[in-house]
This record gives sequence, C-alpha cells and structure tokens, in this order.
Amino acid sequence: MMFLASIVILFTSTLNKAFARVTCDGNFSPISASAFAASLNPGWNPGNTMDATPDETSWGNPILVNSTFANVKKAGFKGIRLPVTWTYHMMDESPWTINVDWIQRVSQVVDMITSNGLYVLVNAHHDSWASFDLAANNANYTRYEEKFYSLWYQIGETLGCKSNMVAFEPLNEPTGSTAKHGAELNKLQSIFLNAIRDAGGFNSQRVVVLGGLGDNWVNMVQWLDIPKNMSNPYALTYHYYSPWDFSASAWGRSIWGSETDKAAIEAEFAAVRGNYSDIPLIVGEYGLEIKTTETAARWKWFDHITQMGYKYSTTMMLWDASIHFVVNSPDPWQDPTALGIISSNSRGVRNTLADSTEDGSAQEQWTSAQLFHRSGERGEPVTDQSLPFIWNGNKLISIRLSIGTYSNPLTSGLDYMVDGNNITFKSSFLSTLFSPNGTPGIKANLTLHFSAGADLQIQAVQWDTPQPATTDFIVNENNSKNDLYIPFEFKGLTKMATVKARLYNGSYLVDDWTQWLGSLQQGRLTYQSHWDFDSSHVIVKSSVLQAVLAANFATGLTFEFFPRVHANTVNFTIGPVV
Ligand SMILES: *[C@@H]1O[C@H](CO)[C@@H](O)[C@H](O)[C@H]1NC(C)=O
Ligand SMILES: *[C@@H]1O[C@H](CO)[C@@H](O)[C@H](O)[C@H]1NC(C)=O
Ligand SMILES: *[C@@H]1O[C@H](CO)[C@@H](O)[C@H](O)[C@H]1NC(C)=O
Ligand SMILES: *[C@@H]1O[C@H](CO)[C@@H](O)[C@H](O)[C@H]1NC(C)=O
Ligand SMILES: *[C@@H]1O[C@H](CO)[C@@H](O)[C@H](O)[C@H]1NC(C)=O
Ligand SMILES: *[C@@H]1O[C@H](CO)[C@@H](O)[C@H](O)[C@H]1NC(C)=O
Ligand SMILES: *[C@@H]1O[C@H](CO)[C@@H](O)[C@H](O)[C@H]1NC(C)=O
Ligand SMILES: *[C@@H]1O[C@H](CO)[C@@H](O)[C@H](O)[C@H]1NC(C)=O
Ligand SMILES: *[C@@H]1O[C@H](CO)[C@@H](O)[C@H](O)[C@H]1NC(C)=O
Repeated sequence: MMFLASIVILFTSTLNKAFARVTCDGNFSPISASAFAASLNPGWNPGNTMDATPDETSWGNPILVNSTFANVKKAGFKGIRLPVTWTYHMMDESPWTINVDWIQRVSQVVDMITSNGLYVLVNAHHDSWASFDLAANNANYTRYEEKFYSLWYQIGETLGCKSNMVAFEPLNEPTGSTAKHGAELNKLQSIFLNAIRDAGGFNSQRVVVLGGLGDNWVNMVQWLDIPKNMSNPYALTYHYYSPWDFSASAWGRSIWGSETDKAAIEAEFAAVRGNYSDIPLIVGEYGLEIKTTETAARWKWFDHITQMGYKYSTTMMLWDASIHFVVNSPDPWQDPTALGIISSNSRGVRNTLADSTEDGSAQEQWTSAQLFHRSGERGEPVTDQSLPFIWNGNKLISIRLSIGTYSNPLTSGLDYMVDGNNITFKSSFLSTLFSPNGTPGIKANLTLHFSAGADLQIQAVQWDTPQPATTDFIVNENNSKNDLYIPFEFKGLTKMATVKARLYNGSYLVDDWTQWLGSLQQGRLTYQSHWDFDSSHVIVKSSVLQAVLAANFATGLTFEFFPRVHANTVNFTIGPVV
C-alpha cells in the first residue's frame, strides 16, 4: 500500500503540469449505487461502436446519434453501458494525453444519452488488451499504472461535472487468470479511484462499478479486493453468456430450456448474490446471436436470464453489436419479442413463452415460435396445427395477423382455439396462407397478446429445402485461403442452424469429442469460426477448407436449416485433389 501511495503522488505531480483539476458550477445530487443500478435496468450496450478500434465506425457500425438513444428508450431500456476504447486516441507515452476531439465526442455522446433520460456507465473497453494486458509476457505493470492513472484522470476531468446519471467502470474484461493478475487489477482499480478523485469535479461522489478478471464472476469472488477506504458509492459487475455453445451457436446447439439448463444459470446468479449479499450487482453484458439461434429457445433463454436478474436484484445490460438494433433496416429492432420479454422481467412480470424441444438427445427439433408448412415437390396438405405454449399463469387475449401493411385480428373458435397448453390453428385459416405447392417464405406475422407479459411475434413460414448452386468443391492450397461462398436459394427462413462435417471414412473433421453429444450436435461446426451465411450464400470458412486439406480426405458437409428436421438439410462434398 505504501508503494502504491508513493507512485500515485509521483503521477499526480507529473500530471498536474499537463492536466488541471476541474471545478464545477452547480450541485451534484448524491445517488446510492443501488438506486443507480436500478435506474440502469434494463440496460443496453452499443457494442462495437465507440469501442471499435481504431475508430467509432471501424467495425461496421454507423456513429451514434441522438435518435439511437431515443429508439433505445422507446424499446424499454433505461440505461446505457457506453463501451469506449481510448488507446487509439491517446499518446503512447507520458503524459498519455487523450485526443481532445475524442474525449469531447465521448462527452457529447454521454450528453445525448442523459438528455434522453437514460443513465450511463462509461468504461475503458478494449484497452484491457490494447493497453493494459495483465497477462502479457513482459507486461510492464509500472507503465500500466501510470497510464491508467492518466487515462482516468483525464476522463474524470472532462466528465467530472456530469450529473449523477453518469457512472464510471474502470476496465472491461481485464485479461488474466492468476492471483498475480488479480492483484494487479486490484491495484489498477485503486489507482482509478485516486485518479478520478484527484481530477476533481463531482467524481468523489460518483457511482463506480468494479469487477474481476475477464468480468468473470468466479474470478471476482476469488480475487477482487474492494478498496477499504473508498468513498464512492459502488456496484460490482460481471458478464454472462452461458451456456456459451448455445449463445454463440457452437457445435449445433440450438436447444435450450430444460430444468437442468435453467438450474445451471440460477446456481450462478444465486452464488454471485450469495457472495455479495449487500452490494448492487450489474450484469454489464449478456446476449445471444439472433441470426443463428432457434427462436423459441432464444426467447426462453432471454426470459430465464432476465427473470434471474429480477429475482437476484441484478441489473441486466444487453450486449448489442448490431445484433438487435440494426440501424439501416426498416424496423431497426430485429427481435421485438425479446425486448418485450426483457422489459417485463425487469418489472417482475411473467411472460408466456413459445415451447420447443428441450431434450438434447432428440433426432429432430420442433418449435412453437413458427407455424411451419412444407411446400414444393414434397409439399404437404394443409392440416390443423397444434402448438404448445408455456403459459406462466397468463391467458391468451388476442391474435393479430399481419401481412405487410394488412393487419386483422383472428377469430377465436374459428381461426384458432386454445386447447390445454396448446393453441390450435385451424386448417381453414392456415389454407389462406399455405398450400402444398405455394411459394416458400414468411407468409404472415402473428402477434399473440396475453393477459400479462410480452406479446409473442410468431411467423407463418412456408418452407422447402434450400437449393445450392453446386454440391461439391475441390480444395487446394490456393483456394483454401479464402472463405467459400456457395450461392444458395433459401426457401422459407433465411437462416442456418449448423453444419455437420464428416470425412468419408467416418471420422469427424473437427471437434471429434462432439461424438458424445446428442444427434443434433455430433460433428457439428461452430458459427463464425467455421460457417456463416448471407441472404444468398452459405459460407464455409477457410478454416474448414484448411482442415479438409490437412486431413487430405474427402469430407461430407451437411448444411442444416430451420425447421431442424432431416428433410431440411443439404449435403455438400469438399474433396482434395486426388
Ligand atoms: C486509500 O488509501 C490509499 C493508501 O493509504 C491512499 O493512497 C489513497 O489515496 C486512498 N484512496 C482514497 C480514495 O481515499
Ligand atoms: C436528444 O434528443 C432529446 C429528445 O428529443 C432532446 O431533448 C435532446 O436535447 C437531444 N440531445 C442532444 C445532445 O442533442
Ligand atoms: C516500465 O515502465 C516504467 C514507467 O514507464 C519505466 O520507467 C521502466 O523503464 C519500464 N521498464 C521496462 C523494463 O521497460
Ligand atoms: C460464492 O462463490 C463460490 C464460487 O466461487 C460459491 O462456491 C459459493 O457457494 C458462493 N457463496 C455463496 C454464499 O453463495
Ligand atoms: C399439443 O401439441 C402437441 C404437438 O403438436 C401434440 O402432440 C399434443 O397432442 C397437443 N395437445 C393437445 C391437448 O392438443
Ligand atoms: C413480418 O415482420 C417483419 C418484421 O417486422 C417484416 O420485415 C416482414 O415483412 C413481415 N412479414 C410479413 C409477411 O408481413
Ligand atoms: C497456386 O498458386 C500458385 C501461384 O499462383 C501456382 O503456381 C500454383 O500452381 C497454384 N496451385 C494450385 C493447386 O492451383
Ligand atoms: C480418417 O482419415 C483421417 C485423415 O486421414 C484420419 O485422421 C482418421 O483417423 C481416419 N479415421 C478412420 C476411422 O479411419
Ligand atoms: C446426406 O448424407 C448423409 C450421410 O451420407 C445421408 O445419410 C443423408 O441421407 C444425406 N442427405 C441428403 C439430404 O441427401
């Protein structure tokens, strides 16, 4: 501690020449950390924007504008975590001056947020690896400490007079995994507190949010020392993406929601709360892919995780890197049902959910988030469809049909009826949308409104097996360096579930251990590392082509779509030159 105190004095004396302590006009209304955390809930992260490197637009998102936050507020969010990467906008040597345009830009965005009535948590984001990589070989901790002090002194100086709606989080997902890294993070968090206090303004009363290595709660419990003499009101934070295979669409996992699945998440929320019974807690990031996850399973996950947030008084802040809010699309919100689910759970209101397969050993997967009907060569007759729902004490009030701008309520008893836990859609109604040889596509949206909780937006989808332009590819040293774009005609949902990859001798191409998983997961690859898609292509990543080349053995890929049934798969062969 003496060591720490002396270096702090040294920084202060050097830095005071470069930076000035700020004094503010007006007053600051002190706010408790618990009131602040509650005011952030539910919260939203504009990810991959001000944290993108080197610049705000470098990772493909447009710059943040005032209407972004008006939209976010309208969607039911109350707080923003503003991820900001500073490293590429500051000197790389003492006194580590931050570019004035950048710090003013951050200040402007903070004002946009608060002027919309939203609370905000400002952080240092990818600086965790770009400037302060605790786990790096030859890491110079002395240098980190000096730079961290300077960084937060300058942020504290510029944002020091902001109102009590603004809080600070010193470092996103700090790197490292050992007691030594944890101890250094403790030191950096103390330095942060000293820096903002020394910068003046209202900072000594401002809410701060501290966390552990990786923003992993187990690391936090194990190594975080809460500074003994801190005067700032504080909350603790961790991030939550479990189970990762489901949230990131790895290894074919598109099923979630069993009692075991739910209990695993509850055990973690309860353990964090158990360790910090009196401290406000903020899950600063949680989220899922929308593009690839099965809809009913995704809604179940959002429902359970935000319900756990409510039960364990934990603020939930959605990570959104153009996943939910996509600026340049007609309706920017990609999954309005998820937003409704998040919002009602933040108030303790239970949602009705579309049911879906929960059994990991199932051969095929069913869902109530879509009414599926197969058309085309193997088109089926239109019959009544009975979809199970999880009611959670609610009652169905109405169902509205929308096709483009046409919108009309359905008639209970005629178009549909509630039958136990099921809603049965009558063939007389479904025949207005589906036919055995009709064109595939999303034929209608149905909005299910209940006595309480979120509306569910389910889709009526006529589908047929997607059609590839080719069914094989010869791989070589040269073409394996690029991703393979296979032209594909999607017929129904423009969505892919997973890819299975098996050598023709029977071995799996990668992740051989997946042979122990259920039949919907064996030999399956991982989204983004191995596969992707756009509106007219299935994309096989170069990593897969290289794996085939290394195995030097013809490999069968099976592309799998939603609905996840045997008939909705396409085989493709990648062969090395023989
Ligand atoms: C906490 O104590 C340390 C060591 O005595 C001191 O350097 C530091 O300034 C104190 N911090 C605050 C926020 O009071
Ligand atoms: C942002 O929009 C809000 C709501 O329309 C308005 O009150 C506010 O002045 C605007 N803020 C900024 C910084 O432009
Ligand atoms: C570590 O950083 C400090 C402070 O910037 C510097 O004085 C020292 O020389 C550095 N050590 C090494 C080994 O580079
Ligand atoms: C605290 O966290 C640990 C895991 O690090 C867990 O085993 C323990 O049960 C938690 N304590 C309480 C009281 O929940
Ligand atoms: C509910 O739907 C499922 C799946 O379609 C079906 O197996 C079950 O028999 C239905 N139950 C009732 C009461 O209609
Ligand atoms: C269903 O809703 C989505 C999202 O609002 C919209 O893009 C799509 O056009 C709608 N489909 C139909 C058939 O109305
Ligand atoms: C790969 O590219 C190199 C250089 O253009 C060429 O010489 C070689 O024949 C190519 N190999 C194959 C298998 O196409
Ligand atoms: C199949 O071929 C691959 C690549 O040559 C090899 O690693 C694997 O062991 C073979 N599997 C079987 C079952 O022979
Ligand atoms: C794809 O290949 C697998 C394994 O060879 C086979 O069992 C399956 O029937 C094929 N599917 C289609 C749609 O051809």
